[in-house]
Amino acid sequence: MPSIAYVNGRFSSIEDAVVSVEDRGFQLGDGIYEVLRTYHGQLHAVEPHMRRLFRSLDAIELKHAFTAAGLEQIIREAVQRAGFDDSLVYLQITRGATKRTKEFPIDVPPTLVITVRKLELPPAAVREKGVAIQAADDIRWQRCDIKTVCLLPNVLASQRARAAGCFEALFVEKDGTVNECASANIFIVASGVVATPPLSARILGGITRDEVVALAHKNGVPMQERRVTLDELLAADEVFMTGTTVEVLPVVKVNDRPIAAGKPGPVTQRLHKLFCELAD
Ligand code: PDD
Repeated sequence: MPSIAYVNGRFSSIEDAVVSVEDRGFQLGDGIYEVLRTYHGQLHAVEPHMRRLFRSLDAIELKHAFTAAGLEQIIREAVQRAGFDDSLVYLQITRGATKRTKEFPIDVPPTLVITVRKLELPPAAVREKGVAIQAADDIRWQRCDIKTVCLLPNVLASQRARAAGCFEALFVEKDGTVNECASANIFIVASGVVATPPLSARILGGITRDEVVALAHKNGVPMQERRVTLDELLAADEVFMTGTTVEVLPVVKVNDRPIAAGKPGPVTQRLHKLFCELAD
């Protein structure tokens, strides 16, 4: 079977999987999600992904009886059924299917959807050249640390970035504070020091971000978690993004302006190599 879905206890192909039109995820965006991947069939960083998932569930006060072990077992079965070397796993949990009301429904079971597809990584040529990104006003809500399925600002910013020939959008506050990309966290390198915005309600605490921060500390790469501005980013020696679907990806152009020489830099390449040794 090429791709696998699991909906509330039932495995099927993705094409055959259905949820109710009354699902609150569809009606109201009332749900959260998580994204993880496999390397050679093995789930990567499953514990931190599960911790973030349960944190998201708590943050939106979604009542449930899920356990990390139970969810992991279903994910593993779905991954095994799909049988890809490198799988992309999406897990969505919504507040269930019910008559449309804004307040929480009573005694309605949550909807659990898991999909497993073959992971499409950025092609080697893209990684070697680096990518362009485009700044976008950060019009998102005040809880970007929750991995909610309400992604309309990310959708619009990503579309505008793609239409402008860019790989990703970069969310920036009105005062020039850089937050993160639409699907990844952001890092700069200036005078040999790596910097990334600190954890806050304005960014998602990326699992890859945490891994890269830890790798930098472990390998003696100077690393700061602090406010980063767009001006600083444009003047940086290197810029890169991190995420489950991009690993450590060099950014060589921002708003049509090349970063330094417009080529992937040595610190980015070193961190990507260290990340691959850890994950692969
Ligand atoms: N996105 N920031 C945002 C807004 C994200 O959506 C993601 C991940 C990240 C990076 O997090 P991680 O390192 O845990 O993948 C940061 C996933 C891949 C997605 O929505 O498809």
